[in-house]
Amino acid sequence: MSSEVGPQQMLETAVAAAREAGALQKERLWGEFSFSFKGEVDLVTEVDRACEEMIVNRIRSAFPSHSFLAEENLYPGGDPAFRWIIDPLDGTTNYAHGFPWFCVSIALERQGELSLGVIYHCMMDELFTATRGGGAFLNGSPIRVSTRTPLRQSLIATGFPYDASRDNENNFRNFFELQLAARGVRRAGAAALDLAYVAAGRLDGYWECKLKPWDVAAGSLLVTEAGGRVTNHGGLPHRVGDHRILATNGAIHEEIVALLDRAGKAEPVL
Ligand code: IPD
Ligand code: CA
Ligand code: CA
Repeated sequence: MSSEVGPQQMLETAVAAAREAGALQKERLWGEFSFSFKGEVDLVTEVDRACEEMIVNRIRSAFPSHSFLAEENLYPGGDPAFRWIIDPLDGTTNYAHGFPWFCVSIALERQGELSLGVIYHCMMDELFTATRGGGAFLNGSPIRVSTRTPLRQSLIATGFPYDASRDNENNFRNFFELQLAARGVRRAGAAALDLAYVAAGRLDGYWECKLKPWDVAAGSLLVTEAGGRVTNHGGLPHRVGDHRILATNGAIHEEIVALLDRAGKAEPVL
């Protein structure tokens, strides 16, 4: 099969893969599964690995020439012009503890530009999809970011890196500033879902640091396609390899950039 298949077929394949992995996640949650440690607190379960295998196999059988960047394994070779970026289970700590807040995140980058994003939250049966220039959708209905402003009236979200107790870039100073300035800050433990929620207008903004491409690829396209703004913490356009992200409805963006800047000049917490 050539690489020039239509975008619709690529989206359908990503959706099918996300739904299949989501079904497995739902089936195995609260059951027995093995896990191992990637770091002191950072886990990976057999469900993460099984989902990744499932997703990669399904996409690869449809598009054998494409390349893959996924969290749990290396996939050498393939056409770098078509790169699938996959987090098979975003929210692993939640999953391992039986806290039902996690998702599948799949994006396709074409010639270095995000072209589609799919996030599936199986516990709510919510499928978020976006294609470049084609808008963002939740279960097939268009979604838009909120129009809420100012930050004081806004609900925003964040997360903390796994090595927060050992490294100064732990997001604590940022959290301090933003918790004081916003209506509320949520920390639910799945970066891709935070981004999907900004796209759907359920959150007004989200920031985090030390993220990987698979955490943010699909979600950042969703936010942009839903009319939001996605940058690094300095307000410059976000690229998939950037570790720091700020995604908002646009209206509260500059307020947050200013507070993140102030937090960056404060004394480290650790
Ligand atoms: C993690 C989650 C979490 C974020 C971490 C990520 P994982 O991904 O998205 O919300 O705070 O930085 O690493 O390990 O559950 O796929
Ligand atoms: Ca992740
Ligand atoms: Ca993961």
